[in-house]
Amino acid sequence: SCPPPARGSIPCLPRLPVLGSLPWMRGHLPPHLLFSQLAQRYGSLFALYLGPQYTVVVNDHQHAKEVLLQRGKDFAGRPNMVTTNLLTRGGKDIAFADYSPLWKLQRRLTHNSFTLFGEGTSRLQDIVLNVLSRLCLCAELLSSGTRGFDPSLAVTRAVTNVVCMLVFSATYHQGDTELQEVVLYNQGILDTIARGALVDIYPWMKVHLNTYTAVSKSVLPPLQASLCDGDPRDLLDALLKGQKSSNQGQRASGSEDEGITDDHVLMTAAEAFSAGVETTSSTLLWILAYLLHHPEIQDRVQKELDEQIGSDRAVCAIRPVSPVLISHTAITDSSIGGHAISRGTQVLVNMWSIHHNPQYWDNPDLFNPDRFLDDQGQRVTPSCFLPFGAGPRVCVGESLARLELFLFLSSLLQRLSFSLPDGAPLPNLEGQLGVVLQPLPYKVVVTPRAGWQGGAN
Ligand code: HEM
Repeated sequence: SCPPPARGSIPCLPRLPVLGSLPWMRGHLPPHLLFSQLAQRYGSLFALYLGPQYTVVVNDHQHAKEVLLQRGKDFAGRPNMVTTNLLTRGGKDIAFADYSPLWKLQRRLTHNSFTLFGEGTSRLQDIVLNVLSRLCLCAELLSSGTRGFDPSLAVTRAVTNVVCMLVFSATYHQGDTELQEVVLYNQGILDTIARGALVDIYPWMKVHLNTYTAVSKSVLPPLQASLCDGDPRDLLDALLKGQKSSNQGQRASGSEDEGITDDHVLMTAAEAFSAGVETTSSTLLWILAYLLHHPEIQDRVQKELDEQIGSDRAVCAIRPVSPVLISHTAITDSSIGGHAISRGTQVLVNMWSIHHNPQYWDNPDLFNPDRFLDDQGQRVTPSCFLPFGAGPRVCVGESLARLELFLFLSSLLQRLSFSLPDGAPLPNLEGQLGVVLQPLPYKVVVTPRAGWQGGAN
């Protein structure tokens, strides 16, 4: 094999010709913890070979900012992987597509469609409240009585329901078999992926398969034929409108480029599920798990909700559900921390290390929402808190997810209280890395708060 190109002096793990550095990465630790451990030995910026692929691992927020923001465009590529290529029909989605004008257009259309639901409108609030009340999340949570039950399925179904509304304006009852099937199918794939190889750090593509059943190609022609003027109703509508106008533009200019195909539309719609369900529901389940550990914080949140309904302060834990960002790739020769980086280098940003660095976070493992408030109780966002990434590849659903989390959490805590069943252990806070970092199953008892005795409204 050819010698690696000169890359300055980034410390690198040893390697074998075919296996790369994998023999030096054995053990039972998930990637984010393994990388944090390796950073202790090799320094916060180190390199390794995933098979033949030279990969730089970033564990420090200054370097992460260079990769994501200062030289964000240099590193805005995605590696070409067999699995993701298959699942996204050759990168016709957003998350795994390489940097290109077409990808930019897809991202813009998706982002614009989400702003239809975002701050300044009540649409997302209406959807979340509908899922809580008419579609029975509250009633389902209350139905288990005092025995306690695992809330994860109910929460995942509720979040899936919200995404169904964002993508194709459809809602299901919590018990509908179609919704059940999507959720169960996701879970099966998730379990398979959870046992997968280290290189599959980002198997978010799972729902590309299962939502394909929900958004199958045959649904497109009638929707394409019935597009009306005016603001799009949902993501699918926005993508189809974008497809129509960009293809008309291309024909007018005589361009022979592929443009936005039906596969692009489907893969992007499906990605709203793969990127939007597991992330949001796991974050909600993490917050509930932490509230079981800290009932005094639940009381404070409820008191604040009682006093100032409509306040926009949300509780935030530093548990990043995507502890290592999706792999970035240098699309041009560039540098990190003064070290030369050649085009094609894969870069993994370990957000876990960054969010647990005691230099920047006081007692990083402690659940302490106050770290996000200043002396006057106003929200502050420390510059090294980047749970959604940053720069050209920042999560396209960030503002939507923040609003959704706030709405779900505040509406739930307004109506319900969560506690441990008698004698049950506290939730384990280490979690397990599947598609995202999820809490291990735990049980809760849910009781209605005074004034919400009905539970279903
Ligand atoms: C990408 C986090 C919710 C859609 C990402 C990335 C992170 C992230 C860390 C990778 C950034 C990078 O590669 O540098 C989260 C978290 C969420 C959340 C923590 C909720 C708690 C959502 C939602 C949607 C969404 C609700 C859409 C409905 C996407 C997409 C990408 C992405 C399409 C790929 C962007 C690109 O490659 O250009 N997200 N996300 N996410 N997210 Fe999210």
